[in-house]
Amino acid sequence: MTAQRPPHAQRPWEDMVLYQVYPRSFSDSDGDGTGDLQGVIDRIGHLELLGVDGVWLGPVMRSPGADHGYDVSDPRDVDPLFGDVDALRRLVAELHHARMVLLMDLVPNHTSVEHPWFAAAVAAGPGSPERERYFFRDGRGPDGAEPPNNWPSVFGGPAWTRVTEPDGRPGQWYLHLFAPEQPDLDWNHPDVGADLERTLRFWLDLGVDGFRIDVAHGLAKPEGLPDLDDDVVPAQLIVDERDVRWDRPDVHEVHRRIRRVLDDHPGTAAFGEVWVGDVDRFSAYLRPDELHFAFHFALTSAPFEAGAVREAIESSLEAARAAGSVPTWALSNHDVVREVTRYGNGVPGRARARAMALVTLALPGIAFVYNGAELGLPSDYSIPHDRLTDPTWDRTGHAEMGRDHCRVPLPWEGDEPPYGFSTTADTWLPMPEGWGRFTVESQLEDPGSTLSLYRAAIEIRQSWTAGAVAGDAGAGAGAADQTSVAWYGAPSDCLAFRRADGVVCALNASDRSVPLPAGEVLLASGPLPTAGPDGDAVLPPDTAVWLRVDV
Ligand code: GLC
Repeated sequence: MTAQRPPHAQRPWEDMVLYQVYPRSFSDSDGDGTGDLQGVIDRIGHLELLGVDGVWLGPVMRSPGADHGYDVSDPRDVDPLFGDVDALRRLVAELHHARMVLLMDLVPNHTSVEHPWFAAAVAAGPGSPERERYFFRDGRGPDGAEPPNNWPSVFGGPAWTRVTEPDGRPGQWYLHLFAPEQPDLDWNHPDVGADLERTLRFWLDLGVDGFRIDVAHGLAKPEGLPDLDDDVVPAQLIVDERDVRWDRPDVHEVHRRIRRVLDDHPGTAAFGEVWVGDVDRFSAYLRPDELHFAFHFALTSAPFEAGAVREAIESSLEAARAAGSVPTWALSNHDVVREVTRYGNGVPGRARARAMALVTLALPGIAFVYNGAELGLPSDYSIPHDRLTDPTWDRTGHAEMGRDHCRVPLPWEGDEPPYGFSTTADTWLPMPEGWGRFTVESQLEDPGSTLSLYRAAIEIRQSWTAGAVAGDAGAGAGAADQTSVAWYGAPSDCLAFRRADGVVCALNASDRSVPLPAGEVLLASGPLPTAGPDGDAVLPPDTAVWLRVDV
C-alpha cells in the first residue's frame, strides 16, 4: 500500500512535484549571509508561482554544521542559524495554507559529536554502556594505534577516529562512515530506535507531512565489522555487492519501525535515500510495511545520451514496479553536480538541462526539483579554495573539492552579489559575478527563460493529474499506470515515450535535427524550426518536446 493523500495537499503523493530547499542557500531573512526558515516563508510565493506541490527541506535540526545539518546534536530542536521550532511551525502552516506539503530531512545513521550521547560516551570510557550506542572499538596493532578495520569514510580518509580517554591516554576508535564529526549509531541498541520514534512523533505532531530519510541503506552494520576485501571499490552507491558496509538485511527492520509510526499519522510518507543499484535489493526498501518511496539516482549520473537516459528511466520504472510503488525522479540534488554543468555547461549544457527537465516532468511518478535548477544555475567551480566548507575538501587532502559548487545561494534579483539572497554580500559561500542573468527577477517575464519553461511544464503536468485532484481525497494515484511508459522507435540517439494519457515526450540527444514526431505540440524546451524543401518542423539537437497524440 502506498501513502494516503495528505489532507492539505492538492493531489496524491504519487503525482507530486516536490521542490528541494537547501536551507542555507535558499533565502536569508536576517542578513547573516545564511538562508533560514523565515527566508523560506518569505519566498513561498516563488513556490506557488512554480506550481509545485510541496517542499523537501534539508536538515534544520540543531547542529554544529560540520556537514551542514547532517550532523545533528539535538534532533528535536531547530538550529538557531535557521530560526526556531516556532518558525518551522509557521512554515508548515503557511505551506498547508498554500496547499503544499513539507518533508523534513531525518538523519538516523549518525549524530553529531556534540550530541549528549556522544559526549557521555567519550567521558564514560571503554566498556561503558554509554559507548554501546555507537561503535567504539579497540584499535589494531601493538598499541591499538591502527584503526579497527580498513573501512574508508565516504568523505575520504579512514572511517575511524581515535579518542583521548578520560585519563588522557590515546584510546579507542569510533566509527564514522562520513565525517569524524558524524559518529555512526549502533542500531542494535534499544535507545537508538526509541529515540528516533520520539523524533518522528515530535515533528509529526508539529504537522509535517513526511520525511526524507538520510542514508536509508546504511543504518545496519555487519556483525563483527569485517574488513572490506582489498579489491572492493568502496562507494556510497553500491557498485560492488561485497561492500559490506551498506544494505544489510537488518536495515529493513528499521524501516518497518519508522513505517509503524507513520501509519499512526494517515497521509504522511517516508522517502528513503537508497543508494542501491540492484533492482531487487532497491525495491526491497519499498515493501508494503517499509518506505513509501525511495530516491533512485540513475538520472543524476546518466550522461546526455538517449541510450543511457532510457536505461536510467527503465531501471527506475522497473524498481518501482517490482515494489508496487511509484518512481521518483531527480536530475540533481545537494550532493551532485548541477545538470547544466554535467551536460557540458554553457549553451549546450543549459539546452540539455532544459530538455531533460521536460523528460523528467513527463515521467509518471514523483518529480523533485532541486532549488536553482528552475533558474538553470550551473555548479560554481570558481569558489576560492579558502572559502570551501565541504568536509570532503580537507578529508581528501584537497584532491576533491566536494559539493559546495552545487550549494551556492540562489540569485533572486539585481546584478551584483548577493542578488537579493541576503542583505550582506558576505554570504556563507560567495556568489559569483555574472549571475544577474540567472535571477528570478530577470527570468520571470522572459518567455524564453528556464524559469518560464519550468512554470509552463509544471502547469501542464499538473493539468494531467487534475482528475486525481478532483477525486477522492483518500485515494492514491487512480487508475493510471504509474510504473510504465510506452517506448516509440526513434532515430539514433533520440528517444520517445508515451504516457498512459497519450502525451508523448521526445528527446533529441544527437547532434543533428530529426523530424518532429506527429501530434499537437504542448511545449518544447527550445525553438522548433522548420527545415527542408517541404518546410516540415524538426526537433533540433539538445531539445525535447511534449506532444499530444490521439490514442
Ligand atoms: C546523505 C546526504 C549528504 C550527507 C550524508 C551524510 O548522503 O545527502 O549530504 O553528507 O548523507 O549525512
